[in-house]
Amino acid sequence: MTDLLIKNIGILATPEGNGPKRGKEQGDIGIKKNVAIGITFGKISYIGDIEEAPAAKEVIDAKGSLVTPGLVDCHTHLVFGGWRQHEMELKLKGVPYLDILKAGGGILSTVEATRKATFDELYEKAKKLSLTMLRYGTTTIEAKSGYGLELETELKQLKVVQKLQEELPIDFVSTFMGAHAVSPEYKGRGEEFVDYLCNEVLPVVAGEKLAEYCDVFCETGVFDPGLSEKMLLKAKEYGLKLKIHADEIDPIGGGELAGRLGAASAEHLIAATDEGIRLMSKSGTIGVLLPATSFYLDKPFARARHMIDEGMAVACASDFNPGSSPNLNLQLAMNLACLRYKLTPEEALCAVTLNAASAIDRAGSVGSIELGKQADIIIWDAPDLNYIFYRYGSNLVDTVIKKGLVI
Ligand code: NIG
Ligand code: FE
Repeated sequence: MTDLLIKNIGILATPEGNGPKRGKEQGDIGIKKNVAIGITFGKISYIGDIEEAPAAKEVIDAKGSLVTPGLVDCHTHLVFGGWRQHEMELKLKGVPYLDILKAGGGILSTVEATRKATFDELYEKAKKLSLTMLRYGTTTIEAKSGYGLELETELKQLKVVQKLQEELPIDFVSTFMGAHAVSPEYKGRGEEFVDYLCNEVLPVVAGEKLAEYCDVFCETGVFDPGLSEKMLLKAKEYGLKLKIHADEIDPIGGGELAGRLGAASAEHLIAATDEGIRLMSKSGTIGVLLPATSFYLDKPFARARHMIDEGMAVACASDFNPGSSPNLNLQLAMNLACLRYKLTPEEALCAVTLNAASAIDRAGSVGSIELGKQADIIIWDAPDLNYIFYRYGSNLVDTVIKKGLVI
């Protein structure tokens, strides 16, 4: 007996497989018409004709709509204190993002607010934000630390994610990003700060199993490729997988480093060089592109089409954070990927489902609707795939199903 049956699915659109889709394959989306999906013990147990579907305890009518996998937001900075609306004025005057940071604002102002916030305050805030994301169709969230820049607050942020994982009907993947900015205590002493992170913070994070990935902000005036490499190699020794914020603003060698280290993913890549793209393609590094950040920072859009042509797998995420992307709606990033990167709807769907799941090592369980995978499913208020890329700006999710649970 099936627990739940979704009947009257007009179009089921999903990538297929347990790993990333690279190059031309990114647009290979399976389209099935007029099917039903059965769910048992939170997993997909039937996909096929309604006539042959097993009996079910509960039935949902999709009313001829589009159904896709739950969305995977593979890059967020979810846990933070305060907001940064006071930066609007500077931003509108054209003060560059890195100049705000250099003057002690930007990331550092969120660091101050995050250090001050209690665990419960951070938890309640992140919980509310996560549940909003779920209503927008995001069923899996990667969350980075990096607003503590010292042991106690980095642990506080990571433990908030641990508790969210225990309490909410959402999957979380945790990333340690102590190297998000040089802390005020180590101002002008980036190398010593990286040593501090490597010797005093990372061992505790790894020992308490609080993070699966380590990420570094490799950028002008933040961490150069040498320091980024030092941090990442140490993280690798401790068993963490690697991500790099690379080429967000300046092409200082972040993409090349990601390729050389065989990082799981490289983030942003707005200014990625041809050589960086070639190396990442060779190493299988996934490009996690963040179009809502380009939009909000008024920066160019990453060369997604070129990356796909060079055989890279492209994922897209919200980059939700209080500075460069205060938007948590992954549908908006998905729309921008289509409109600005010129990804086809099929490629963009893969970018926020299977390829995003691959960027956080979850492609074996989520990111597609296939027998045996976790039942993370969206029923859209939309008749077909084009519609959800065309009707940008509204929440087109009708029903979210997480691990077989109707939310
Ligand atoms: O991915 N660039 C570094 N980190 C974030 C921004 C964080 C912030 O401004 O608070 C990003 O854009
Ligand atoms: Fe980011």
